[in-house]
Amino acid sequence: MWVLNVESMSPTAFTEIQSSLAFVALTLLFVLVCRRYLALRDVPGPFLAAFTRLWHARTIKSGTHARDITALHRRLGHFVRIAPDEVSVAHPDGPRKLLLEALPKGYWYKTLTFPDSTYKTPMATVDPKEKIERSRLLASAYTTSSLLQSEQAIDTQVALLLRWMDEYASSSKPMKLSKFFTFIAYDIMGEVIFSKSFGFLEKGDDIENSLQQGLEFGAYVAVLPYFPWLQGLLVSPLFASLRLMMPSNYVVDRSIKALEQRKENPDARFDYVAHWLRTHENHPHKLTAKDVQAAATSNVSAGADTVTCALQSFIYHTIRHPTAWRRLQAEIDEAAANHHQQQQQGEEDISQDHPVFSFAEAQKLPYLQACIKESMRVCPPSTIGLQRVAPRGGITIGDRNFKAGTVLSYPAFGGAVGADAHDFVPERWHMDEKKTAALDKYFIPFGLGYNSCVGQNLVRIELSKILPTIVRRYDISFVNPEQEWTYKTYVAAVPGDWPVYIKQRYR
Ligand code: HEM
Repeated sequence: MWVLNVESMSPTAFTEIQSSLAFVALTLLFVLVCRRYLALRDVPGPFLAAFTRLWHARTIKSGTHARDITALHRRLGHFVRIAPDEVSVAHPDGPRKLLLEALPKGYWYKTLTFPDSTYKTPMATVDPKEKIERSRLLASAYTTSSLLQSEQAIDTQVALLLRWMDEYASSSKPMKLSKFFTFIAYDIMGEVIFSKSFGFLEKGDDIENSLQQGLEFGAYVAVLPYFPWLQGLLVSPLFASLRLMMPSNYVVDRSIKALEQRKENPDARFDYVAHWLRTHENHPHKLTAKDVQAAATSNVSAGADTVTCALQSFIYHTIRHPTAWRRLQAEIDEAAANHHQQQQQGEEDISQDHPVFSFAEAQKLPYLQACIKESMRVCPPSTIGLQRVAPRGGITIGDRNFKAGTVLSYPAFGGAVGADAHDFVPERWHMDEKKTAALDKYFIPFGLGYNSCVGQNLVRIELSKILPTIVRRYDISFVNPEQEWTYKTYVAAVPGDWPVYIKQRYR
């Protein structure tokens, strides 16, 4: 074996070796710096973002990243460098080229594993093929026909919300609907996943201060995965078991408990967990017990804050636009009157004394559906940029080529629809089919392609039931008509602070 004998070397040879090593190290450093900092030097963006992820992290932490990045795109064009290695792409070809193509996901997703890295989810799986295989094992739970088995349980939660709203209507006190929408979104997730609500609506209160905790957790989950070395350490099994750094999280803890209780519940419906446990029994190595737990917790987290935002956006924007509100009420009143007539003739049964709209009935209301779409367009509930990696051979978007390995993300407001993009105009979904189809191409609140939202069928059911029921039953007005809501964005958007007065129309 060749061994370097330092003692027998002349001082000049030793110095030469030292200089050569220093040269190699400097060259390597130079190449690394060039690769990291200079490869994207022609992409415009905030000065600091060219050198450090901290610019992006700070804007997420302050809850303004979606609006900041949108403003940058408006000023700088389709491509904005938001970190040394990441470009935000708000280009008309973005949805098709970045999301519809099965590109690997970026590193932000990799460490989204709770409570620790041994709990794997499709969301945290970045390789498309592996992700699709994982998703397939969970998919049967998400179909509309399966979800409709929980329709009555959802109705019970809506009825609980109505009880609170009736109470506020009779007391004439201001109501924070934003808070109650969070309660119902969590409680419905509890029902469809575990056959049991979390009990927020029953109590009418933020149990164990979980909403506040959820907010802190949301900021943490949005920022830390951009630093995979740190987040990787925090979710490593040993570190995570110490629970030193992770903010304690009610939702994760509660979901784990709910899953345990669900396994002992003989009255459970054929809920999400039933689907997953069946697959686990048939394929215990493909879908492990830990995978089932990870799916349950990640679905609660993914499905509650987003739905809260969609519910808020709908009511906030429709009461801000009285013409839209009146048109909605007219459409819904007419449907309710027709329904009443049909019921008297012994046709369909959408029970008169049961105040909640059925999913089937709400699907037939075009203006309602247009308002639902428009409220998610103008305020997308999921706001983190969808990170993908340029494949081997690179990728061309518009006139720009990005080298293989470049991290590209599609921002929440990527698909603008012209000068009135920021206005709430439900009528835009009522144009001729061609124009609506053109808009549809950029309407992607649920993402697109292999990683698109698995909860969208449930979302349609929830919104289609809760919203027409509320619009028919109440008149709603702002306590402070001049005041806009507060609007923060982390992984999801978190609007709030728009108290309202409720007035009863029907019971
Ligand atoms: C208005 C409500 C919702 C919106 C706007 C929304 C939006 C999204 C978006 C944009 C993605 C990610 C796409 C990507 O990273 O490329 C996503 C993923 C996901 N969503 Fe939703 N979501 C909503 C509600 C829900 C609900 C109710 C559930 C649960 C039933 C849910 C479960 C998930 C899961 C599990 C993923 C990860 C994808 C996967 O595992 O395959 N979401 N959602």
